Amino acid sequence: MVSPAIGLAFLPLVMTLLIRYRFYFVLFYRAVLVRVWRDCRTGLSREERAFQYVLTHATPGDPESILDAFDAWCSKVEFISNIGPKKGKILDRLLSEQRPLTVLELGAHCGYSTVRMARALPLGARLYSLEMDQNNAAIAEKVIRLAGFDDDIVELIVCPSDEVIPRLRSDYGLEKLDFVFMDHWKKCYLPDLQMLEGSGLLGKGSMILADNVLFPGAPNFLRHVRRCGLYEWRVHRATLEYSTGIRDGMAELIYQGTK
Ligand SMILES: C[S@@+](CC[C@H](N)C(=O)[O-])C[C@H]1O[C@@H](n2cnc3c(N)ncnc32)[C@H](O)[C@@H]1O
Repeated sequence: MVSPAIGLAFLPLVMTLLIRYRFYFVLFYRAVLVRVWRDCRTGLSREERAFQYVLTHATPGDPESILDAFDAWCSKVEFISNIGPKKGKILDRLLSEQRPLTVLELGAHCGYSTVRMARALPLGARLYSLEMDQNNAAIAEKVIRLAGFDDDIVELIVCPSDEVIPRLRSDYGLEKLDFVFMDHWKKCYLPDLQMLEGSGLLGKGSMILADNVLFPGAPNFLRHVRRCGLYEWRVHRATLEYSTGIRDGMAELIYQGTK
């Protein structure tokens, strides 16, 4: 039990935060209420509603039309934390420059970024996408297959990253990762990056792209990247997906392999 005196001591801080960030609090709670109301009214989850829209507005086998349908839904109707078109273009450019053959994605959600990456990969490339939430993974699987990518190109693994990364060599036969896209829970960025460093799967020139490093932010991850001396790195400034006002960034890391 927190004593009332301690509670009172924190009151000015709580009030200051509430006043300073009231705009975000209001937006957040409004979004939660609207979402619960829509869930009850439709009997579907937010991800299933987005998928229904994609199914009726996209062309099977045409990845662009799937991305366009998601973007239309998420910018006009209901927010989903897909990487979105603006940051997506940064991802597209890096993939076309890097031409990676073995790619790992951490956090597929509905499969938007998975499809975005799969369509930009060179012939013979393979993308391993991890998603730990069963319901999200079920949607992602349908979206990936709707886009026309079979299991030889995209393998969706339904499991938390900390259980899969140590098994990438033994169970999936990987020897090197050319490109890693991190877009899962931000608290997992640092432990997963360190696990990848220890796995021996990163080689000189392997690229890691981490989304949302400024919002919601991954300060411990950035501190490690700055201090460890293992990477050349930069942050691409952008705004949060499907928003104009909230500043965000993607960290691009190129593994140098030497301390
Ligand atoms: C921001 S969404 C991913 C969005 C997706 N990359 C896109 O742009 O379309 C984050 C997803 O990561 C998943 N996730 C979070 N932590 C994870 C972990 N440790 N391992 C696997 N998936 C994780 C969540 O379930 C959620 O679906």
